[in-house]
Amino acid sequence: MSTLQDLIEQARVAFDAAVDPAAVEDAKARFIGKSGAITALMKDLATLSPEDKRTRGAEINQAKQAIESLLQARRQALADAALQAQLAAEAVDVTLPGRVRGAGGLHPAMQTLERIESIFRTIGFDVADGPEIETDFYNFTALNTPENHPARSMHDTFYVQGGHLLRTHTSPMQARYMQTHKPPIRVIAPGRVYRVDSDATHSPMFHQVEGLWIGDSVSFADLKAVFMDFLQRFFETDALTIRFRPSFFPFTEPSAEIDMAFTSGPNKGKWLEIAGSGQVHPNVLRSVGIDPERYTGFAFGVGPDRLTMLRYGINDLRLFYENDLRFLRQFSHQTV
Ligand code: PHE
Repeated sequence: MSTLQDLIEQARVAFDAAVDPAAVEDAKARFIGKSGAITALMKDLATLSPEDKRTRGAEINQAKQAIESLLQARRQALADAALQAQLAAEAVDVTLPGRVRGAGGLHPAMQTLERIESIFRTIGFDVADGPEIETDFYNFTALNTPENHPARSMHDTFYVQGGHLLRTHTSPMQARYMQTHKPPIRVIAPGRVYRVDSDATHSPMFHQVEGLWIGDSVSFADLKAVFMDFLQRFFETDALTIRFRPSFFPFTEPSAEIDMAFTSGPNKGKWLEIAGSGQVHPNVLRSVGIDPERYTGFAFGVGPDRLTMLRYGINDLRLFYENDLRFLRQFSHQTV
């Protein structure tokens, strides 16, 4: 029957025109849904004779099956297309360059600490670590710094609750190490220290490396030799301008501050204090149970951040702590 053939044709066109599953289902409703064209034809059968009803009914059913298989085919085609699209979208292009995670680099302050540690290890020094929150005893008393000493001023130190303070230097490690080790002692103790200070050459937190050598007749001459040797290795040159300037520390006698001159950068020719040093005071040895008549030695506290400034000709210490990558990257050996 041409009308049924027409209907099948119309259904084919409608299904082909449907570009998504919802449109396909709409088209289905128009042809074989409850109020669709085929259903309407079925209802008309009621008016026919039983004979005609059978032939006409069979024809309508055939048309319905034809439309149903067109519907199935269209559903399948859309599902296939959706799958293909998804596969294409999720495809991995193995020819793309890999995504590399930046490797990062060591902060210049840490590079310097590592450098100092490795130099001292080669001359037989142990490397020790101590607490940044210290007791009054180790920071001051054990270091021959009595209670009324000006270095204990609240203005010079960060106090925390419970009688503790942020250590103002790494010298407490002298006492701690001597309490747990017997002479001969050769140790450095790198770490963070804190003071109420802030300008181009001072920051409230900075680094120090304590050095201590206690043994049989270890003298000030040994201090000079060891320290010069260290500096020459650190800066990779013998041409250094260094001076030992007489000074005072409660825990050394005699004492000297060690200055070094900039040889490059905007501060060229200016002196920068890089360390405090001296012969360990007999009272310090006594406070940790070492006989000062039997053993002598020297100590120094060097500022590695200052050494980094001198090594690279940096004029402002605060650059180290601003975390500006343009500054930090200059010290990184990484290329990414
Ligand atoms: N602790 C002193 C300071 O921070 C430096 C120092 C260390 C001096 C060891 C003498 C001996 O200023």
